[in-house]
Amino acid sequence: MTPIEQDRGSWGSKAGFIIAAAGSAIGLGNIWRFPYVAGQNGGAAFVLIYIIFVVLIGLPVMITELAIGRHTKKNPWGAFELLFPKSVWRFVGGLGIFTGIGILSFYAVIAGFTLGYFFKIIKGDFSSIASGDQAAAIFTAFTANPYLAISLLVAFILITGLIVAGGVSAGIERWSKILMPILFVLLIVLAIRSITLEGASKGLEFYLKPDISKINPGVLARALGQALFSLSLGMGAMITYGSYISRKDNLVTSAASVVFFDTIIAILAGLVMFPALFAMGLDPAGGAGLVFVVLPSIFAKMPGGILFGAGIFLLLAVAALTSTISLLEVPVSYFVDEKKWPRKKAVIWMSVAAFVMGLPSAVSLGASDGLSKLPLVGFGFLDLMNAIFGNYSLSIGSLLIAVFAGYKWGAKVVIAEIQKEGVAFQLKHVWTFLIRFVCPVAIAIIFVYIIVTGNYF
Ligand code: TRP
Repeated sequence: MTPIEQDRGSWGSKAGFIIAAAGSAIGLGNIWRFPYVAGQNGGAAFVLIYIIFVVLIGLPVMITELAIGRHTKKNPWGAFELLFPKSVWRFVGGLGIFTGIGILSFYAVIAGFTLGYFFKIIKGDFSSIASGDQAAAIFTAFTANPYLAISLLVAFILITGLIVAGGVSAGIERWSKILMPILFVLLIVLAIRSITLEGASKGLEFYLKPDISKINPGVLARALGQALFSLSLGMGAMITYGSYISRKDNLVTSAASVVFFDTIIAILAGLVMFPALFAMGLDPAGGAGLVFVVLPSIFAKMPGGILFGAGIFLLLAVAALTSTISLLEVPVSYFVDEKKWPRKKAVIWMSVAAFVMGLPSAVSLGASDGLSKLPLVGFGFLDLMNAIFGNYSLSIGSLLIAVFAGYKWGAKVVIAEIQKEGVAFQLKHVWTFLIRFVCPVAIAIIFVYIIVTGNYF
């Protein structure tokens, strides 16, 4: 069968695609990862670099991935294979597929935590806390229970698998439409509460007033990784999603909308976290547990805190779900397209793989557990997975995708794909310059820098 004959389904509408792609992009990356990584990497200076990378690297790479996907109507491996059969470029897709499972493995652990927190808040576990330290102690106790963490991981992967098994537009579109706008409104309310806490201004300054001297190779590498992670780029998720878009849709404006919404949510999450964090005397560089400590501390200081708290963690779980769906969809579409597996079989095996890979991450945040530190690196396993798959693999993937589009497949072909059915691409020269020069050179320089300075994690 040629790609066109194959019935892979497509999005219900252009809005359907934007909602689904935004659903993939918006997730724990915005609300869990962005604030804690920004907190560890100099606050406002990081935010500034992050935004520059989103515009100069994220947006052009997203346009490129969507164009590859729509042109080939394939999973990442199949897309490169179709364009250049048996060439090494297939392995860019292969890396992406593996990375999808790698990210899913630790992402589902944190997603499981958000579910767990939903129930904890309803139970009233946070209604009497008076300080950030108390919230931190509750988080530590929560993660110290490996059975709970593993059960939540299983639950989250199961829910993801059930939806992915149901097929694309039926499963994904329905979920995102109503719930993401509610998440947005809740975040605005929380940001207002956070900013009006006593002592919040120090946090605003940390978050919004860049101190350029804090920029170093590590900050650049992590801002790049965070931009790609947050936008779901560098592993072919957007190639896969692009494969379901119609020729009539404008890839550039679609990509721009997704990038815009994703960035707004991340910035907003920072406005929720940093003022409250400083108001409560917590450490901005506290690491992966940050949201689980700061958010409950805010709810404790709000009328109707339990309601808000439960609402936000439930919506966070839903936002995470629309992202885990896209992570699982990539390897699944590979086995369905290339290996002709039935969809259910692919879902089951990829879910099992993510679960097994996720086990060490699930127990790694528990301070009292022997597995919490890898002996080799003295470093949490989840943090390690997060750095390898969530930063480096996506950066390498994006570099290769940019080189592929700019030099191998050719900028002209990509532009022709974008301009199908008379769609105008006004910024085509800017895009060409960014994809051929800025993206590969910037990413390569950051890698050389990181290697030379040894600032890996
Ligand atoms: N972007 C999502 C988030 O911010 C996570 C995610 C989903 C992702 N699919 C991806 C990251 C593909 C990288 C690649 O939470």
